[in-house]
Amino acid sequence: MTGPSPAADSAAAAASDASHGFEPAGFETATTERLLASETAEASPDFEPQRRARALVEALPHIQRFSGSVVVVKYGGSAMTDPALAASFARDMVLVNAVGLRAVVVHGGGPQIGEQLARMGRQSEFRDGLRVTDAETLEVVRMVLVGKIGRDIVGAVGAGGGAAVGLSGEDAGLVKVVPRDPALGFVGDITAVDPTIIEQLLVEGTVPVVAPIGADTSGQAYNINADTMAAALAGALGAAKVVYLTDVAGLLADVSDASSLLGRATASDVEAMIVSGALSGGMIPKARACVDALSRGVGSAHILDGRIPHCVLLELFTDAGIGTMITRQDGPGPAHGQGTGQGASA
Ligand SMILES: Nc1ncnc2c1ncn2[C@@H]1O[C@H](COP(=O)(O)OP(=O)(O)O)[C@@H](O)[C@H]1O
Ligand SMILES: [Mg+2]
Repeated sequence: MTGPSPAADSAAAAASDASHGFEPAGFETATTERLLASETAEASPDFEPQRRARALVEALPHIQRFSGSVVVVKYGGSAMTDPALAASFARDMVLVNAVGLRAVVVHGGGPQIGEQLARMGRQSEFRDGLRVTDAETLEVVRMVLVGKIGRDIVGAVGAGGGAAVGLSGEDAGLVKVVPRDPALGFVGDITAVDPTIIEQLLVEGTVPVVAPIGADTSGQAYNINADTMAAALAGALGAAKVVYLTDVAGLLADVSDASSLLGRATASDVEAMIVSGALSGGMIPKARACVDALSRGVGSAHILDGRIPHCVLLELFTDAGIGTMITRQDGPGPAHGQGTGQGASA
């Protein structure tokens, strides 16, 4: 074991318990008598041990349905910058793998790149939401994404009891690009994905942690929008789902109204929202990436609130699901949040 000290371990355990929404006090009342009573009569729906057991039972059909499937998760925003959320996310990826799904993480890093550039006295410049990337900026992008953020995620997955390998689209011919627009510098448009290296890692039970960088045929590196990268990998891997963690509840009908969350949307709803101007800023490439992933055969695309601990588990393994689920066409069943069926109608 590599834990620092027993005291630190138990403090960490207490902190992680709190962050996982369980009330440890529930166990104090878990006498055999009460356990037996709640088991036979379902008399205490809020009795903690039974609540925990029900959560596991509820997960079973989802685990069975998606066992063996690839799930690509675009990781970014608060979930990446808050240390408690980052540790909890990494452990969730370990859990997803442990129950037979195959998680692939694609990470962003815009704010961290911006901070590093600022420390070096350089300004960040964006056009249409994309970072203008000259040769020196590209060095910083690579350094921060591959050398820092990727390493941190790999370490966190390891600390959570799993195994991860960090790589970028430059590795083993994973992602080939062409320049998008000379005015943007080294910003790439993906032309081809060879997922062999990812598939090899998945066979080993390893979590691939992919930085959004690709290379042209000469080996020159290019910066890629992480949302776009996640969609391309999900398509090439035949993923069942692509899941985007962000800092809002999901797709909002009205971005200024947090209560206007759309539980479900179709690809054509999303296209219409782009055209009508209901989406702006970083939600445009994200929404386009969702539609792109669906057109490449991915089963469903999800935009989740990464500020919610365990949002990926809630989406994958509960009946209600969270955030926005985007599918090619309308599925059967009610919109999620109104009852059952999100997971069952993908
Ligand atoms: N209709 C919309 N629904 C939700 N978010 C929207 C919408 N229109 C614009 N946005 C913006 O998109 C942002 C998410 O994209 P972005 O800032 O690139 O974050 P990230 O890529 O880290 O998830 C939200 O914080 C929100 O401000
Ligand atoms: Mg973004």
